[in-house]
Amino acid sequence: MAIDVTEDIAFHDLQQGGRTRDLPYYCELARRFNSTLELGAGTGRVALELAGLTELSVNELDELLMRELVRRAGARSLSVTPVPGDATKLDLGRRFDLILAPASFAQIIGGQGPRQALLRVIARHLGTTGVAVVAIADVDEILRECATPVGQQLAATEVEAGAQVSWQRTVGDRVDTARLTIHRVSTEDVAADAHACGLHLSRVHHDPGDAATLGSSYCVLNHACPHHCPAAVAVVQ
Ligand SMILES: C[S@@+](CC[C@H](N)C(=O)[O-])C[C@H]1O[C@@H](n2cnc3c(N)ncnc32)[C@H](O)[C@@H]1O
Repeated sequence: MAIDVTEDIAFHDLQQGGRTRDLPYYCELARRFNSTLELGAGTGRVALELAGLTELSVNELDELLMRELVRRAGARSLSVTPVPGDATKLDLGRRFDLILAPASFAQIIGGQGPRQALLRVIARHLGTTGVAVVAIADVDEILRECATPVGQQLAATEVEAGAQVSWQRTVGDRVDTARLTIHRVSTEDVAADAHACGLHLSRVHHDPGDAATLGSSYCVLNHACPHHCPAAVAVVQ
C-alpha cells in the first residue's frame, strides 16, 4: 500500500497542534544563546519559532518530518541545520549553548536505557556554560485529564510503562489511529540520570497548564561544577 506522506505529516501536526504554552519560555532562552540544538523537532512547532532567534540545529529521527520541517523553514526564509538520526546516538563533534528536548521527548524515546543515552548525548553536546532543558509531563495528569476523548480526540490508557496516548483521524470512510507511549519519569529520575553523566539539575520550573493544555516540568541542566553543585563545593572546600 502506498504511504500517504501528507497524512503522516498531518497526523504529527494533529498530535502536537494547539500546544503553545511552552513557546515563550523556549523563545526567551533562545534569545539569550548563540547556538541551539532541538532534539526530536518534528515538523517544527518549536523550531520555527526559534530559528530567527538563535543559530538552530534540528534533530529528528523521521525523515519525512525532517524534510517537512526544512521545507517549512525555507518557506519562511528561516535557516535551520538538519541533524537527522536517533537523538540517543548523536555524536556531532561540536557543542551548543542551549539544548532543548520539548514536549515530553525524554518520555517517548523509551524507558531508562534510552533516557540515560539521551542524557549522555546532551552532556556530550552541551557547552561548558550551556543550558539544557528537558520537559517532563506528569503521566498521572495525562491519565486523569485524557480519560475521556476530548478536543483533538485524545485518549489515554494506563500501560505498565506509563500512559498510552492515542489520536484518531477520520480520512474519508477510514478511521486512523496513532499511538504513543509516554513513559513515567520523575524529575528525580532525570536528576539521577543527569548526575551519572556529569550533568547537574540546577532548577525545575513547573508550568501548571490550563484548561486547554496539560502541565509540564522543565528540568534545567548544566555541567556540574563547584558553583552549581553543593556536593562539589563541599569537596573543593
Ligand atoms: C513529541 S514530538 C515533539 C515535536 C516537537 N519538538 C514539538 O515540541 O512539537 C517528538 C518527536 O521526536 C521524534 N523522535 C522520536 N524518537 C526519536 C529519536 N530517538 N531521535 C530523534 N527523534 C525522535 C518523533 O518523530 C517526533 O517528531
